[in-house]
Amino acid sequence: MNIAVLVSGGGTNLQAIIDQINNQTLHDVAIVKIISSSHTAYALERAKAHGIAACVVSRKDFTDFDSYDEAIIQALTGQQIDLVVLAGFLSLLGPKVIRIFSNRIINVHPALIPAFCGQSMYGIKPHEAVLARGVKVSGATVHFVNEHYDEGPILLQKSIDVLSEDTPQTLQLRIMKECEQVILPQAIQLIADQQVYIKDNRAYISSRCTRAGEGIS
Ligand code: GRF
Repeated sequence: MNIAVLVSGGGTNLQAIIDQINNQTLHDVAIVKIISSSHTAYALERAKAHGIAACVVSRKDFTDFDSYDEAIIQALTGQQIDLVVLAGFLSLLGPKVIRIFSNRIINVHPALIPAFCGQSMYGIKPHEAVLARGVKVSGATVHFVNEHYDEGPILLQKSIDVLSEDTPQTLQLRIMKECEQVILPQAIQLIADQQVYIKDNRAYISSRCTRAGEGIS
């Protein structure tokens, strides 16, 4: 299964996918394209180090949202891409790309959706909000992407305890390492193995998809 990975920052989630492909933990998956929303994302260095084709499509470089949407589509065409993976990607995708890749875009969010998500909840902010609210568990969610932030069908979640001594930074690092970088590759493998289907806007995991739901990829 060919995937494109969209990034905005450090690329630790991208690196987890690269590492798991290279050590065969993740099989039948190839990263054929990396698209960054930022010209300075360290994720681009990771792409270069592993010889993976990469380009930058930054919303700031476009006068209107529609031309940005078209540019993302252009960056995703020209080769077979079965799944689009948002890995620390912070921009909103346009309606055209979401329609073309319907049910074939997944995102990892650093909180347990529907808690601590939505347009303002990115980067360190979910973790600050978790500590401010005093919740006792947090974690990460992998969900399918639709035209609204963080509202598509949930596929996988993984939680950890919030520690009394946690700061937003320590919590973020533990969630990245123990949650995001675990469930994002797992989700990719499930889809590559055709073990995921969507029915009534819910995502389900099952053995080979022979059910009536919409198979993925
Ligand atoms: C991760 O928590 C990701 O969910 C968020 O930013 C953090 C770093 O992502 N968007 P990465 O290192 O760029 O994968």
